[in-house]
Amino acid sequence: MTGPYLMEDPREAARLQAKVDAPRWVRTHLPHVMSPRATVLDVGAGPGHVATAVLRRWPTAMVVAVDTSAGRLAAGVREGGTATPWRCCADACRLPFPTGSFDVVYSRLLLQYVERRGAAVAEMARVTRRGGAVVLFDLDGQLVWHDPVPAELGALLARVAPALRAAGFDPHAGRALYRLARAAGLRELAVRVAPYHLIAGRVAPVERAHWALKLDIARPFLAHALGSPAAADRAVAVFLEFLEAEDTLSYSVAFTVTGRRP
Ligand SMILES: C[S@@+](CC[C@H](N)C(=O)[O-])C[C@H]1O[C@@H](n2cnc3c(N)ncnc32)[C@H](O)[C@@H]1O
Repeated sequence: MTGPYLMEDPREAARLQAKVDAPRWVRTHLPHVMSPRATVLDVGAGPGHVATAVLRRWPTAMVVAVDTSAGRLAAGVREGGTATPWRCCADACRLPFPTGSFDVVYSRLLLQYVERRGAAVAEMARVTRRGGAVVLFDLDGQLVWHDPVPAELGALLARVAPALRAAGFDPHAGRALYRLARAAGLRELAVRVAPYHLIAGRVAPVERAHWALKLDIARPFLAHALGSPAAADRAVAVFLEFLEAEDTLSYSVAFTVTGRRP
């Protein structure tokens, strides 16, 4: 059984959609494994905005979006218009599809939240047909790599990190993808790494707004981790102050691992 998603909130579907250029992600990560009539599975799809972008690029493909949140899946239905993927509420660790059902299976920013990430990747490999492709995309260093770290921020990060781990979140999921793909029996592995977020100096207003919303959604989790809503409010203020400092550097990278099921 999977634990609750730590960013559970009615605003989360819109936040996920707003922070990615889905057509660009699809152009960068999928053309080499796609064909016009491919059967495709997006695991941990949120509102299905990336799955919709796949369908817009390959309108004759059959695309299924899976997520544990029925509410988030439903939130994306209006956005897709005629390019609406099939939606299925299910756990990545127990995908309700027969072995070998899909030509292409991918996950984007899912595995960092899944405690049993090895089981999830094994399931993704299982539902991929022989010769089909699995594409795993996840972050490394998210919420971790900052410089200089003011003392109060350092103390807060040190208190939040164990609570994140206890909730199944791994800020270094990206570097584990290669190992997980191998363990799931995938072969012909290709690994890419690219910058994901990079803030050098005072954060731009649009990016500040994304972080402010993310931290606001995370406020109940922070209150639980730090012992009180007031402590969570202080943590949010300290982090936003850090992002607004002229000497701030904050970054993370994104790993993409593509493999084939032999
Ligand atoms: C950060 S969002 C990523 C959404 C989308 N893939 C994207 O890139 O914008 C992670 C999503 O994974 C879903 N999720 C978390 N654990 C899951 C699990 N065990 N099985 C399926 N979905 C899960 C969450 O509900 C959430 O919608």
